[in-house]
Amino acid sequence: MQPFRLAHLSDPHLQPPAGALAPADLVSKRLLSAIAWRRKGREHQPRVLDALTSDIAAYGPDHLALTGDLTNFSTEGEFAAAQAWLRTLGPAADLTLSPGNHDALVAKNAPDSFAPWRDWLEDPGDTAFPGVRRRGPVALVNLCSATPTAPWLATGRLGDAQLARLATVLDQLRQEDLFRVLLIHHPPTGGIVSKRKSLEDAPALRALLQAKGAELILHGHAHEAAVSTLPGLGGAIPVLGVPSASAVGHGKHPPARWHAIEIAPDQHKIRVVARGLSPETGAFEPLGNYLLDTAQG
Ligand SMILES: [Fe+2]
Ligand SMILES: [Fe+2]
Repeated sequence: MQPFRLAHLSDPHLQPPAGALAPADLVSKRLLSAIAWRRKGREHQPRVLDALTSDIAAYGPDHLALTGDLTNFSTEGEFAAAQAWLRTLGPAADLTLSPGNHDALVAKNAPDSFAPWRDWLEDPGDTAFPGVRRRGPVALVNLCSATPTAPWLATGRLGDAQLARLATVLDQLRQEDLFRVLLIHHPPTGGIVSKRKSLEDAPALRALLQAKGAELILHGHAHEAAVSTLPGLGGAIPVLGVPSASAVGHGKHPPARWHAIEIAPDQHKIRVVARGLSPETGAFEPLGNYLLDTAQG
């Protein structure tokens, strides 16, 4: 069986369109983000993101997994601009998007339930997270940890209802013998980000995963490459984080990177090729590759 080829990218933090912030926005949490953006805006560059998406297109993946933080202030204008960018990446059925904390910064004026991005969140018929997309031997299980938070916090939360649905979905997909890939913005593994940026109900998620299993978990948010594992049903579940897709690498985080993930379900193997921005050439090149074992079931 040919391996299923999945491209994982995250945290593009697209440049806000001109006038993205109205004066009324500046009394909210968006003000704090606007201040932070003065520094971060230089770190996230469209030319880097363009080079990264071209590199992914040359690879020709079966599917793209995008784990959130497309926007910076979650304004209507940014959601529309992000929708236009998503359209440049191919059919919506071939890209699954899990929203990030920056995409849910404030409840007020935020697009209802990520409506402009609906085609990338789930297949038609799904109405609540997690969305489930069956593609060949793989099932993409799309969680949403994005939730408005208090100022200075970047925490995430799944909530009891989503966790309950996840339990049912994982059982169902296991019965179908599908390779379950979970997408979530916040890392479910402890110690990858500070408490201020953490997933509040990570302990409940980890307990659920131990009982129900999963074959692979992909996350963003940390803007760092991270490889960890969580206890699963038949063995350890690999958990992979990828740096920002648009980072120049001048700050505290590494330059942009994406992961080519080749899944051979019948061999219980995952091959990961990390491709990163070369600061010298501005092009993407292989940084290394490794094999992960996954105990399906
Ligand atoms: Fe981010
Ligand atoms: Fe984030």
